Amino acid sequence: MEEKMNCMDKKVREETKEILKKYPPEKDRLIGILNDVQEKYGYIPKQAQLTISEHLNIPMAEIYGVITFYSRFTLQPKGKYNISICLGTACFVKGSQSLLDRAKERLGIESGEVTPDGKFSIDEVRCVGACGLAPVFMVNEEVYGKATVKQLDEVIDKYQKEN
Ligand code: FES
Repeated sequence: MEEKMNCMDKKVREETKEILKKYPPEKDRLIGILNDVQEKYGYIPKQAQLTISEHLNIPMAEIYGVITFYSRFTLQPKGKYNISICLGTACFVKGSQSLLDRAKERLGIESGEVTPDGKFSIDEVRCVGACGLAPVFMVNEEVYGKATVKQLDEVIDKYQKEN
């Protein structure tokens, strides 16, 4: 297994081991460890999952289950501009699905994916606490309320021109 790893995998493995030094090999430390890894990489790399699995002696499936249960953990890196479309009830009834469809069409990726140039990613979120402005989408931390497909197009155009 060790020799099949590429440089990046080795780096992630070493760095994850460094993080793990803070934690005794106890199962209830998993969330804390995942928080640290997510903060370091912006997602939880596969190699980090393997390293954690060995350290805590728990199956990969269990780690995967925890990562996918909590929305703050992600399995993929995000793009420079992460477009989050709110599919919570208030936004959904005001047509946020059409915003999501448009973002996917414009960027040629699905939710949870990143464009090949690393510039954009798309996320589906459930209520960002701005229901009065429904439908809502966000680009990183910036909220766009009472959004339309036209506005989404303009925002994507704007960021496509930026580096
Ligand atoms: S449902 Fe979208 S902000 Fe609340």
